[in-house]
Amino acid sequence: MLVLGIESSCDETAAAVVEDGIRVLSDVVSSQVAIHARYGGVVPEVASRQHLLQIVPVLEGALAKAEVTLDAIDVVAVTQGPGLMGSLMVGVNTAKAIAYARDLPLVGVHHLEGHTYAAWLGGTDPAVDPGFPLIVLIASGAHTDLIVMRGHGDYEVVGRTRDDAAGEAFDKAGRILGLGYPGGPVVQRTAEGITPSFKLPRAWLGDSLDFSFSGLKTAVLHKAQELGVYPAPEAGADATLVADIAAAFQDAVVDVIATKAIAAVKRYGAKGLVLGGGVSANGPLREACRQAPVPVIIPAPKLCTDNGSMIGAAGYYRFIRGVTHGMALDATPSLALG
Ligand code: KG4
Ligand code: ZN
Repeated sequence: MLVLGIESSCDETAAAVVEDGIRVLSDVVSSQVAIHARYGGVVPEVASRQHLLQIVPVLEGALAKAEVTLDAIDVVAVTQGPGLMGSLMVGVNTAKAIAYARDLPLVGVHHLEGHTYAAWLGGTDPAVDPGFPLIVLIASGAHTDLIVMRGHGDYEVVGRTRDDAAGEAFDKAGRILGLGYPGGPVVQRTAEGITPSFKLPRAWLGDSLDFSFSGLKTAVLHKAQELGVYPAPEAGADATLVADIAAAFQDAVVDVIATKAIAAVKRYGAKGLVLGGGVSANGPLREACRQAPVPVIIPAPKLCTDNGSMIGAAGYYRFIRGVTHGMALDATPSLALG
């Protein structure tokens, strides 16, 4: 069964053709990162206009790369929410138009369910090996959630951020340190091979599985001011100071996320740990999570950030459970998981 997966919830316009929920036949992503970089973050109005420009070429590209036409597609799956309203609408309305014109089933997918199902695209079915329950860690620009997944479509959120998402903290740290946007990849590159000469605070929040990153963000700002690299690097300021802060910041985020993800695995007797979301592309986080005492499933970095394949995979598993939406499907910016 071929599913066309469409994703447009934030700043990537993406489409993919996925076979039987596990095989990627094509995956095309048009990123707006360069456009938003000059503003230091995603500008919603600009994002929705870019989606409008990109959606048709991206869809055509995905079909061409899979060497199929719409005639071969069995199901259309699209991110319904959460995300930016104007951005979501472009994907949802395009998906509705295709489904209507071709008389195809339409499946709305929760963005975080999409990130979860990226784990199904690695060639092994996590529902079989290692099996449910799984702990799913979704760390992205908008979420830091720990989820107990007891079956397909069966989710319980057992930890969430109380303030900023991990990706948001990476992006803020990148801005403070003058490294540019998005902060995640550039902070990781800057911190590579550095053992920081100081520690930044971790918010453990007792034995709660919740997260908090706003204090760490402030600590980065204060350290940057103290070392003279913010607001503008002082003449002669050493680039190693920036790298030192970047490394101390990354260590703190990775330490808290990995420790809590592993604690969740133990607390809920999970058979495996699944990572998803843009921050899961982070090398040190991937390494730290591999210390869990169960199999750890981490998608390739390009499937951790927003893409259409994950929506195609999640859409497939929704469809075979009998979930379809029809023309009443609406973009839902604050859609709940479940
Ligand atoms: O999942 P995603 O592509 O979009 C959302 O749904 O938010 O995640 C984007 C976030 C950004 O905050 C970006 O800085 C972060 O993922 N990110 C990373 C890395 N690559 C992307 N964070 C840390 N290390 C990375 N290598
Ligand atoms: Zn995402």
